[in-house]
Amino acid sequence: PETITIQELANRMAERGVDVIKLLMRQGQMVKITDVIDADTAQLLAEELGHTVKRIAESDVEEGLFDTPDTDANLVPRPPVVTIMGHVDHGKTSLLDAIRHANVVSGEAGGITQHIGAYQVTAPNGELVTFIDTPGHAAFTAMRARGAKVTDIVVLVVAADDGVMPQTIEAITHARAAGVPLIVAINKIDRPDAKPERVRQELLQYEVQVESLGGETLEVEVSATKKTNLDKLLELISLQAELLNLRADPDRTAEGTVIEARLDRGRGPVASVLVQRGTLHVGDLVVGGSQWGRVRALIDDKGATIESAGPSTPVEILGFSGSPEAGDRVAVVETEARAREITEYRERQKREKAAARGTGARTSLVDMMT
Ligand code: GTP
Ligand code: MG
Repeated sequence: PETITIQELANRMAERGVDVIKLLMRQGQMVKITDVIDADTAQLLAEELGHTVKRIAESDVEEGLFDTPDTDANLVPRPPVVTIMGHVDHGKTSLLDAIRHANVVSGEAGGITQHIGAYQVTAPNGELVTFIDTPGHAAFTAMRARGAKVTDIVVLVVAADDGVMPQTIEAITHARAAGVPLIVAINKIDRPDAKPERVRQELLQYEVQVESLGGETLEVEVSATKKTNLDKLLELISLQAELLNLRADPDRTAEGTVIEARLDRGRGPVASVLVQRGTLHVGDLVVGGSQWGRVRALIDDKGATIESAGPSTPVEILGFSGSPEAGDRVAVVETEARAREITEYRERQKREKAAARGTGARTSLVDMMT
């Protein structure tokens, strides 16, 4: 059942907690401010105190905010979004760096200093690939838990000298649970003790069967340090992306996910966001988690100021009132009133969750308006 703490109920009615407690005591109930009551009791109390009650389910407040259907006629191909995973020290960061640097035309090297948690590179076939630079499995799980599906493809990095390790297995499990295809990148192939064949065999135990063993999983032997086969890896990503037939409607209002966010001294809250559907424009009103704002500026992964960002584009958004959190979904809304309604609702949810943790009670879905 829906519940609420007496404290929270009092807060929402802008009444004193003690007055709510008195009312309950008069009905013969001995309670304290941290106690939890059910929604029906809360409604009666609120009405008794002269408030009008409007009970709102989560689905009502956030109705139509996310996952509104695309117009099929507008669907166009979009770049794949790729996450690199693997065991500690197997070379994830080295591989990402190598791909990014190999992709930067000389003289432009200064242009990649920007760190926005995600970036785009051009594959050999001329098409873009978006990489998310998330720190690993925990972040991936957290995002999935919050309903944010950000990645289309997982590149599983396995060091040829070390083989399948616990986090390799974890990554396989995550990718499978999320329904995301894997591409196996056997790294450190330059090492004299590299045993790529052993890696392939070990992967079989986890039902990952690479192509050279007759399976369907794409694979490539790479060396991040020697920059071997990086183009091949990008080609495989393009190939896998083609199989996925990734499309999005750029003409609709934007939706995306926060990759990371921080408070910048001069610029205020800066949110790195992956735009997933639609096109985000400067001037749009956005909500992200329990924050909202009007987009003051958009900055791309090369540090350039841009006017708009379409599907699969990573951008920094300036203009949020406060920092949203990694994994928060972002959506464009029509009015400030709507932005406030959503963010205030989420703010309350957060408080209630915290309160419910304190009392061991369930989160309340009841909403009181005076
Ligand atoms: P964590 O972020 O700690 O999980 O590690 P990681 O997977 O990002 O590995 P990282 O890129 O930091 O590389 C770990 C070590 O392996 C570093 O010392 C790298 O120089 C080395 N390394 C990475 N790739 C290669 C490679 O292709 N060949 C060789 N010989 N060494 C590599
Ligand atoms: Mg790393």
